[in-house]
Amino acid sequence: MKLKITNLSKTYKNGVKALDNLNLEIGTGMFGLLGPNGAGKSSLMRTIATLQKPDSGSIEFDGINILKDNMSLRKILGYLPQEFGVYPNMSAEKLLDYFSRLKGISTASDRKKIIKEVLEVTNLWDVRHKSVSGYSGGMKQRFGIAQLLLNNPKLIIVDEPTAGLDPAERHRFLNVLREIGTNHTVIFSTHIVDDVKELCHELAILNGGQILYRGTPDAAEKELEGKLWMRIVERADFEAFSLKYNIISSNYNQDNTLNIRVHSEFQPDETFVSAKPGLEDVYFVALKKELV
Ligand SMILES: Nc1ncnc2c1ncn2[C@@H]1O[C@H](COP(=O)(O)OP(=O)(O)O)[C@@H](O)[C@H]1O
Ligand SMILES: [Mg+2]
Repeated sequence: MKLKITNLSKTYKNGVKALDNLNLEIGTGMFGLLGPNGAGKSSLMRTIATLQKPDSGSIEFDGINILKDNMSLRKILGYLPQEFGVYPNMSAEKLLDYFSRLKGISTASDRKKIIKEVLEVTNLWDVRHKSVSGYSGGMKQRFGIAQLLLNNPKLIIVDEPTAGLDPAERHRFLNVLREIGTNHTVIFSTHIVDDVKELCHELAILNGGQILYRGTPDAAEKELEGKLWMRIVERADFEAFSLKYNIISSNYNQDNTLNIRVHSEFQPDETFVSAKPGLEDVYFVALKKELV
């Protein structure tokens, strides 16, 4: 089962080019779409979910031409938008029953079975009688997953689900996604590098409506091996260093110094030591369009 996106472009009426001739192939498993705010993640996801039309390009999934055949795609799609809006004051169990009727599951026993299943997968079984409107942010996001699982979707799209979650909630949410990712095609967007590192076996880095990297986290880190350098600089010298060297990130220390990391084919000078690349380095280098 493969999602194939070809030459996808979209310019909004205000002139913003959100998708710029984008090409991407995604197979089964957890796929991470990593990019900063405004990169085009939501635009891409809404387009795949057939909620908005691109200006040009094509999208295919499992033999379906998505842009021509919206309805076939929607039947097998589970989509959790970035902004879900408000939930009514109804228990999770009742609300899921309502949603499953809408999705056409007409037999009460079928509904009961699938609702139990999705509540268990999302770890909400114990709180199924509580009102969803009173759920915490993390529980609401897990409920969002529960409702999209009702029609057993083949393609699942989740748009920045971890934004705003506290660390414990985020951890619980990622565990739920990890479980789902073992037997579905899941596309997961985030601006948090660690989300991708913990969860996805493949990723794409997106910015300016273009794919800047596509591959595994390991391969990405390998590409930077031997090209990443670090040293400590005084705070007062930082400006001068940033003019002279290609700094991709800097972090303050307690003592008014900074650790700087530089991307360079060669050791910038003997004061720099080689650094072991991580996915965050890959992200910063890709955003500078310096990753091949
Ligand atoms: N409906 C819209 N009308 C006009 N501009 C939009 C609209 N939606 C998004 N944009 C713009 O398109 C760009 C990409 O936005 P978006 O797809 O939401 O990125 P992301 O989800 O990565 O933050 C941004 O510059 C954003 O301001
Ligand atoms: Mg977005």
